[in-house]
Amino acid sequence: MSHDIAVIEGDGIGQEVVPAAIEVLEALEVDFEFVEGEAGDAVREATGEALPAETYELVADADATLFGAAGDTAADVILPLREAVDSFVNVRPAKAYPGVDALRPETDVVFLRENTEGVYAGHEDRLSDDLSTLTRVVTSSASRELAEYACEFVADGRGPAGDSEEGFTVAHKSNVMRETDGRFREAVLAVAEERGVDVDEELMDAFATKLPLDPSQYGVVVCPNLAGDVLSDLAAGLVGGLGLLPSANVGHDNALFEPVHGTAPDIAGEGIANPTAAVLSAAMLLEYLGHVEEGQRVRTAVESVLSEGPRTGDLGGDATTEEVTAAIVDRL
Ligand code: NAI
Ligand code: MG
Repeated sequence: MSHDIAVIEGDGIGQEVVPAAIEVLEALEVDFEFVEGEAGDAVREATGEALPAETYELVADADATLFGAAGDTAADVILPLREAVDSFVNVRPAKAYPGVDALRPETDVVFLRENTEGVYAGHEDRLSDDLSTLTRVVTSSASRELAEYACEFVADGRGPAGDSEEGFTVAHKSNVMRETDGRFREAVLAVAEERGVDVDEELMDAFATKLPLDPSQYGVVVCPNLAGDVLSDLAAGLVGGLGLLPSANVGHDNALFEPVHGTAPDIAGEGIANPTAAVLSAAMLLEYLGHVEEGQRVRTAVESVLSEGPRTGDLGGDATTEEVTAAIVDRL
């Protein structure tokens, strides 16, 4: 069976790391049909629109999408694209690899972040010269859906194990935000109990202290939207660089995969961007489409290159994007 994959390079190094990821996917015995779509700053300059309707449709109709990055228009591109794939969870692994200088080499966590509501649901108003307000949205249904995904994720053994071997950690602030995080917490705990999954609870501020002090105690971490955004970036800081972090926006019948990093204007066009985050995003895409073994092959090849080189400049090496990509393909 062939998979229809929408490919959006976007701006800056998106145009360098997405082709690298495609090169890796094409080296596998999986049948893909890649269709390119345009989005980002350059398209807005040319057409007035950062995300043309054709690109939105392409992504909505695809089996999955690989996205690079957009510049100033990032929010105008990625927020509608998350909606195009109907994404309810943002999966963000942060793993330290041997051979990479990490603040906390023992870090291996996966954040499962609620991806549709919370303070990012957009109910923000400027009411006067002095006053602005933001309405936070939390539903039991979205919270339950996230928790159901988390229970399946740990049951399938897809997450790293922290102290809670077969369960997950939920981070929230329900002691202060009693109604919103309270609802989130209740929904997550109820689903976990129904499914017989262990849950450790952390207040998100305490978690922000404990994670850098001892990341080894955490495996899968479930969070509301804003908390997940901030805490997963904190974890990214522990593992040694933006060039390494992939992510997935998973929906019911579609998903979009993207490196966490942006367009890196300081190095764009030089051919020296680290392709690892994009290639690991492609590994997540493979696993999402059921090609778990191929996904694992890609991960193993990436890990081997990270530990033995060649490495790009962000990791202290002097290799080009192409050289690193060729080395990954070589080790497949
Ligand atoms: P950035 O991630 O583009 O760059 C931050 C730093 O990390 C830079 O020094 C860059 O050279 C380095 N870096 C990032 N990825 C790298 C890679 N693969 N290899 C080597 N070095 C890498 O974040 P920044 O500078 O805050 O944003 C630049 C632009 O990207 C902005 O216009 C922003 O809006 C956009 N952006 C887009 C995102 C998206 O499309 N999802 C996400 C984050 C930022
Ligand atoms: Mg962020």
